[in-house]
Amino acid sequence: MTSIGPRRILLILAHPALERSRVNRRLLNAVDGVVDVRLHDLYELYPDFEVDVAREQALCQEHDLIVFQHPLYWYSTPALLKEWQDLVLEYGWAYGPGGDALVGKQLLSVVTTGGSAESYRPEGGNRHPLRPFLLPLEQTATLCGMEYLTPLVIHGTHRLGPLEIEAAAAEYREVLTGLRDGSLRLRDEQGVRCLNPSIAHGARG
Ligand SMILES: Cc1cc2nc3c(=O)[nH]c(=O)nc-3n(C[C@H](O)[C@H](O)[C@H](O)COP(=O)(O)O)c2cc1C
Repeated sequence: MTSIGPRRILLILAHPALERSRVNRRLLNAVDGVVDVRLHDLYELYPDFEVDVAREQALCQEHDLIVFQHPLYWYSTPALLKEWQDLVLEYGWAYGPGGDALVGKQLLSVVTTGGSAESYRPEGGNRHPLRPFLLPLEQTATLCGMEYLTPLVIHGTHRLGPLEIEAAAAEYREVLTGLRDGSLRLRDEQGVRCLNPSIAHGARG
C-alpha cells in the first residue's frame, strides 16, 4: 500500500445526467461525508470534456484507492470517463519508462446496469457475464501497476424499488468504509460482487 493508516479514497463519478439518476445518485449520497472519501463528479467539473490533466494526476497521487463509479453505457463507461483515461493516464506518468505514478494503488469499479443479473449470462440477452465487459478497465489498472479489486455491481436498476436501492447504498457505504479502514479486502476473484444479490437473481433480463 502507498500509505499507512486509513486509505484515502478518490471516488470518481461519471454520470452524464445525475439529476435523473435513481441509483448512482443515491449511492453517492450514501458515501458523501465519509471521512477520507473524496467525491469527484467528472460531468459536473468538465461538462465541456476539457479535463484538467495536471489536477487529475495530482488528485490520483494523493489517494490510495481510486473508485470509478458509473452506469454501464453500451457495455462500457460513459464517454467522459473514457476521455479521462485517455488524457490522464499519460505515457511516462501512468505507464512506460518512469511511468510509475499509480504503482501500488488500487482501482475499484462500481457499476450499475439496466440489465438484470440473469441477462448477464450465456443464455441471457447480453450473452456474457458482466465481468468480461470490464476487462479494459482491469487491464488498464494492471498496466499501470494497480491492483484491480473485485468490482461492485448493481443489476436491474430500473426494477429496483426505493427500499432495495436504499439497501444497496447502505452496503456500498459499508464496503467503502471497510476498504478505507483495511478491515475488508476485495481481492480480485474474477467475478463481481453484487450489492443487490437477492434482487438481481430474482429479476428477469
Ligand atoms: C446510453 C445508455 C447506454 C446504456 N447501456 C447499457 C448497457 O450496455 N447495459 C446495461 O445493462 N444497461 C445499459 N444502460 C442502462 C443504464 O446502465 C442504467 O440506466 C443505469 O445503470 C441506471 O442508473 P442510474 O439510475 O444511476 O441512472 C444504458 C443506458 C443508457 C442511457
